[in-house]
Amino acid sequence: MNHVSELAINYLQRYGCHIDEDYKTFLREACKIHPPPHGMAWYGNFYRQRARKAEWFANSLIANAAEEGNGSRKVWHFSRCISEPEYAELVRSHSIDESRHSKMFVALVNILFPTQLETDFWVQLQDLSPDYYHHKHPTTEPPLVSDRSQARSLDNSSSGHLILDTEKVMDEIIKINLLEIRALILQLLLRPVLQAYATPENLAKVTTMSDVFIYDETKHIEYSAYCIGKYIQQGNQEWVREMMISRQQSVNEMFLTDVELENSVGTTILSTPNTVQGNLE
Ligand SMILES: [Fe+2]
Ligand SMILES: [Fe+2]
Repeated sequence: MNHVSELAINYLQRYGCHIDEDYKTFLREACKIHPPPHGMAWYGNFYRQRARKAEWFANSLIANAAEEGNGSRKVWHFSRCISEPEYAELVRSHSIDESRHSKMFVALVNILFPTQLETDFWVQLQDLSPDYYHHKHPTTEPPLVSDRSQARSLDNSSSGHLILDTEKVMDEIIKINLLEIRALILQLLLRPVLQAYATPENLAKVTTMSDVFIYDETKHIEYSAYCIGKYIQQGNQEWVREMMISRQQSVNEMFLTDVELENSVGTTILSTPNTVQGNLE
């Protein structure tokens, strides 16, 4: 039994999410075969040790604001390439959440380190979020295929528009699912550190923001698990099982590369270009 899969399943249960049993079995198997390093004690210790330095921690909050903003844009791009309306809508909501997370990280810097932000810099940080809302967002139309070689791997029936075939969409959703589990773990590591930096006056506010992050990341695991569960029910058990095992291995490798390069210690989204949404660029 792996700590990471159990933690994710516990959080899904805690928020009353109904999750496909086969999905849970495959997640447990994937994490058992390729134990995620982000759930290991060494990483928690490594993160907490760095986070003791206020300057490092403030910078890591800013890095999170940037990564959540980039992640939001990439997830939106992915949503435009999905033909199934229900899935596209779920992915768009995900993108809007990540846009909000970027702003929340900037707000946290301002709450915890109020004297260190010059007005100009504060404005620049606000721009890290793409500012997507349910009532205000970019087009939902599929992007045009500019590169014909790229189009070969796609279901290109809608003449010139970049629409991904079902397997490619499910592959991306599986990667999103595993990376959102990582995002949840990072939020759980972040929570006590945020609380340690908080003053008695802002502790309640900071804790509520952490609650929102944890809830949202759990919901991102839930919707992607829902899509995966539906695909399993359509008779694709073995494909999903193999893909979850293989994608867990790649997520672990990306994570270790990022840690080694000091790219994303403590960030909720991996910055290695090979990540989920990066594949669609
Ligand atoms: Fe997020
Ligand atoms: Fe997320």
